[in-house]
Amino acid sequence: MVTSSPVETPFKVLVVDDAPAVRETVKKMLELYPEFQVVGEAADGPEAVAACQTLQPDVVVMDVNLPTVDGIRATAEIVKRSGAAVVMISVEGETEYLRRAMKAGAKDYLVKPFSPDGLAEALRRAAGDRALLERRGTLGKGVAVVGARGGVGASTLALYLALSAGSPEKPSYLVDGDLELGGLELLLDVEPLLTWDEAVQKGWTRQPEKIREGLVEGGEGRVKFLGAPPLPHLADLVDGPQRPEAGRAYVRETLESLYSLGGPVVIDAGRGFREGQLQALEAAQEVVVVTTPGVHAVAAARKVLLVLEEGLGKTGEDLAVAVNRYDPNQPPPWSELEEALGRPVRLRLPVEPLLPVAADEGKPLLLQQRKSRWLEAVEAFAAQTFAEGGDGPEKPRRFLPWRKGGR
Ligand SMILES: Nc1ncnc2c1ncn2[C@@H]1O[C@H](COP(=O)(O)OP(=O)(O)OP(=O)(O)O)[C@@H](O)[C@H]1O
Ligand SMILES: [Mg+2]
Repeated sequence: MVTSSPVETPFKVLVVDDAPAVRETVKKMLELYPEFQVVGEAADGPEAVAACQTLQPDVVVMDVNLPTVDGIRATAEIVKRSGAAVVMISVEGETEYLRRAMKAGAKDYLVKPFSPDGLAEALRRAAGDRALLERRGTLGKGVAVVGARGGVGASTLALYLALSAGSPEKPSYLVDGDLELGGLELLLDVEPLLTWDEAVQKGWTRQPEKIREGLVEGGEGRVKFLGAPPLPHLADLVDGPQRPEAGRAYVRETLESLYSLGGPVVIDAGRGFREGQLQALEAAQEVVVVTTPGVHAVAAARKVLLVLEEGLGKTGEDLAVAVNRYDPNQPPPWSELEEALGRPVRLRLPVEPLLPVAADEGKPLLLQQRKSRWLEAVEAFAAQTFAEGGDGPEKPRRFLPWRKGGR
């Protein structure tokens, strides 16, 4: 598979093998993939370690059997010193080698002969490693928006955050994660649509370049959009029992792929906690819980916050509450509201009568150059959220009490 899109910053690759013919083959293979650029070669362990210091590659393709210092020991050295990701290659398919390579810190292990696609896929996975992308400063940030109840404005907020964060030069990624009942495309008026079920069936979830090319552009080039499946039952292909590979976290994989492309990512996580939504909320560095000022919505928001904190290990810094559709002529008692929610309200969004009109027309306010307090607040929040860049360590999913029985 040959991708032809221009790549801003290709991953730098070092090729290590004592056989010149193997190095040549690997180089030829990688010429097919513009996201990789071979910056150097080495024929033994010490040479490889030295080359990592001078060339600072992102990924190293490393033969196991090398003269003097073997590839496994060289790998341990490289991982420790330079932080490059290592993919081992070997004629040996034995599990003992595999185990030792992984223990030394290798990201992957390929048995010779391998195909160009197999090699590229392994390098992509290694290169997509969070630590590496963070080191390069090119990891995109993901913000998920979740509604406390139906109709509070979660999708609208997700749309405008993505439009605010993206530009035609550097579009943001907008993901409809409301897998059963999504329909964000109606607010954006885009076609033809790539939807989750298609992305999974095409096998693109771990292929950032494919997704980048496949996604439809909207909002005058400001966003690239991934749509929800066209019918609710198709969600099961993405995160339910119909998955092509049982148990695979396709939603998480896709989001990680988008982060690796570097752009801001905004996920409309709908409401509720089906598997795909949990993956999305988990994989997002920041979650915005949207509510309206009414008591019932606020009570629901509390529950959502509880799941995010107790179940997904999100902390105060990863969570923001947005109160939408308050009456600017009769604002709610903010401090009482904050007390009821147990946290500050980061985003105060008034009623904006123009929003439903813009939604019906499929022409977002932001593109109509209309003045709006609602929009100003959202734009300020987007600027703040996405300017912060980096995203800190990953948080493990702790416990989900109602799932203990293995439902
Ligand atoms: N601040 C606002 N003022 C007025 N109308 C708003 C405001 N925010 C959202 N709306 C309107 O409310 C309706 C519901 O919004 P939206 O679809 O974003 O909610 P949701 O939380 O995603 O709902 P669902 O549960 O159906 O996914 C839309 O018509 C939208 O235009
Ligand atoms: Mg919605």
